Amino acid sequence: MATLDTAVYEPQQHLGPTAERGWSCRCVADADPSSIVRELGRIGDHLGTRVAGRAGSLEEVIQPRAIADAHPRSLSARYGLGTLPFHTELSHRTKPCRYLLLGCIDPGSPAAATMLLDWRNLGFSQQELDLLEATPVLVRTGRRSFYSTILAPGGAFLRYDPGCIEALDARGRNALRLVEDRIAGAASEAEAHHWRQGDILIIDNWRVLHGRSPSDQGSGRRLARILIDA
Ligand SMILES: [Fe+2]
Repeated sequence: MATLDTAVYEPQQHLGPTAERGWSCRCVADADPSSIVRELGRIGDHLGTRVAGRAGSLEEVIQPRAIADAHPRSLSARYGLGTLPFHTELSHRTKPCRYLLLGCIDPGSPAAATMLLDWRNLGFSQQELDLLEATPVLVRTGRRSFYSTILAPGGAFLRYDPGCIEALDARGRNALRLVEDRIAGAASEAEAHHWRQGDILIIDNWRVLHGRSPSDQGSGRRLARILIDA
């Protein structure tokens, strides 16, 4: 569970707990939507450079979407309001963003948790890491689709998103199944962040996979999101 820190904090503190365990939570005292978005921007600008999400915007407000309402290449287009599987944000970019910042405008009712899982705790052996680093897979993103690997050179990040990564051969299928099986096996150890209005999560996207528990149509859940390259 997240430790909620409501104290006044300085910019250099942003990365303290995030550097330690890959993610951290803060709370904005004055939790109106514009304050939350402003605070996300402030933290984000300190950490690096904002990058646009799939819809092309540097600041987004996301909400659970049914399959029919989702961006055609988003995970919601496949999983809708059900459980969104663990993934790396912006896996369809050659280099996924380093940080993912989420701020809770409305936790919704029923509320859906954000699930967090450090891929380095998935127990990959050296041989398995070599497989993930050496096996080409296809990252499907329309006309800009490209070949890559699940594990970046030197293990800098894990690229995993069942919505856009496809195997090219049996080795690729083994690599994808390996990650899928390890995530399934570790799901009970994942941390669930149960949102409260004003919460801000800073997630090291190169280290921590995230997902979402099931939601409902019209739950009202709204999260502000900013993506950061660093
Ligand atoms: Fe995501």
